[in-house]
Amino acid sequence: MTSATATLDPSLVLTDIDPRLYGNFVEHLGRCVYGGIYEPGHPTADDAGFRGDVTALVRDLRVPIVRYPGGNFVSAYDWEDGVGPREQRPRRLDFAWKTTETNQIGTNEFIDWCRLVGAEPLMAVNLGTRGMNDARRLLEYCNHPGGSALADLRIAHGWREPHAIKTWCLGNEMDATWQTGHKTADEYGRLAVETARVMRQFDDTLEIVACGSCSPGLPTYPEWDRVVLEHAYDQIDFLSLHLYVNDLERTVADYLAAPLLMEQQIRAITGLCDYMQVRHRSKKRMMLCFDEWNVWDWHYMHPADFRPWQEAPSQVEQTYRLIDTLVFGGLLITLIKHAARVRIACVAQLVNVIAPIMTATGGPAWKQGIYYPLLHGSRYGRGEVVSLQVRSQTYPTATFGEVPCLDAVATRDPSTGDLTLFAINRHQSEPLSLSVRLLDGGPYSLREHLVLTHADPLATNTREAPDTLRPHRAEGTKVCGDLISATLPALSWNVVRLAPEPLTGR
Ligand code: AHR
Repeated sequence: MTSATATLDPSLVLTDIDPRLYGNFVEHLGRCVYGGIYEPGHPTADDAGFRGDVTALVRDLRVPIVRYPGGNFVSAYDWEDGVGPREQRPRRLDFAWKTTETNQIGTNEFIDWCRLVGAEPLMAVNLGTRGMNDARRLLEYCNHPGGSALADLRIAHGWREPHAIKTWCLGNEMDATWQTGHKTADEYGRLAVETARVMRQFDDTLEIVACGSCSPGLPTYPEWDRVVLEHAYDQIDFLSLHLYVNDLERTVADYLAAPLLMEQQIRAITGLCDYMQVRHRSKKRMMLCFDEWNVWDWHYMHPADFRPWQEAPSQVEQTYRLIDTLVFGGLLITLIKHAARVRIACVAQLVNVIAPIMTATGGPAWKQGIYYPLLHGSRYGRGEVVSLQVRSQTYPTATFGEVPCLDAVATRDPSTGDLTLFAINRHQSEPLSLSVRLLDGGPYSLREHLVLTHADPLATNTREAPDTLRPHRAEGTKVCGDLISATLPALSWNVVRLAPEPLTGR
């Protein structure tokens, strides 16, 4: 048995949490849109062709914001192709993913789907093959009420009310050599600042996200970020970050600690943003938009799925194991710890493509293991982050040195006073004995201790066995006075939920 102790002070609030921390991402890639959120003819499809089973799973996740339409796809996307009468929409080749895009879903349908699932859109503009003029035109098409050619075009297309899209991404991963129209930091910085400026001329309340460097693994990191901020600091609100982790060339012990890469990245970019704030003599604190994050093993990019020019092929459909689920949970815990600066985050992606939700075309939808940490975070991790000081036994890693077996964060919902402890036991063979002292005296009662684990670290959910990885209620967890005691199984994701006494029914 390994062990950890902690002190939890609910009265010491570290930050509020922007609900958009639990956001997601829908790209025209593989079967995310076609066969994912949209499949006319599916037994559960609604009149608009949206799959009802997927809609229900997304609603359960309470996804607050969804980034769209890409990703690499957006950097050669002509938004005009995706609006107007469907039968007149062109079929186009998407060079980025080597597919044929039918354009049966475009901006307006995406907004309808957002309304259906209760999410707000995070709209990306094409700064690869296009530029500020097209961003300006798309903004006017979407957000102007009427009385201009572009707004009236939207109305003629059947959407009378403006879409009121508040938050906009200026391109995608523009430092990446794989990006269509990729740019140097100076080229992008100039384009970003001018695009932001023209968009603000239309509406100075918009929130604007500029591309940071897209991976700590690229040589552009983090100098790209500095140069972009040099140009654009005054005109943007967010800098974007992306991170995908995997176990390639890593031991399991090191892989389980991989969320520390995200920790390092957030610290580095936060420090850079603060430096640039001072340099710009600015009152504005730059916020971070972690608009792509996940576990992604490149082996899931099967060459046959990229045979040109298929329609919505099964690209990048990763099956997540228990250990991937724990790493995903660790990334989520890291985002919550840094909620003061990371105000928006998007799992990449929502359905089928490196996704928590999987579908069979014409068949069922099911949840991958990674669905559950996201569900728990989104349901129980809203409100504020409160002080949790952890002292844990450690285990050795080659990359990170000694790493705590316990990774944890605590949140409080100010509307109910409920406390939630999210905790991972990274030890591969031993359960972890956890004692947490509550500093505000409480009293609190245990609502439940949910645990997701499995005897096989490589266990997965599949169409045939969709519930292999699913949380269950743990037994034996106690709250006695100011002491919480629990046992966290080896390799487990845990959610310990407390309510202030007397217990209210929720
Ligand atoms: O999420 C998949 C891809 O990863 C996105 O299209 C791109 O932005 C990133 O490289």
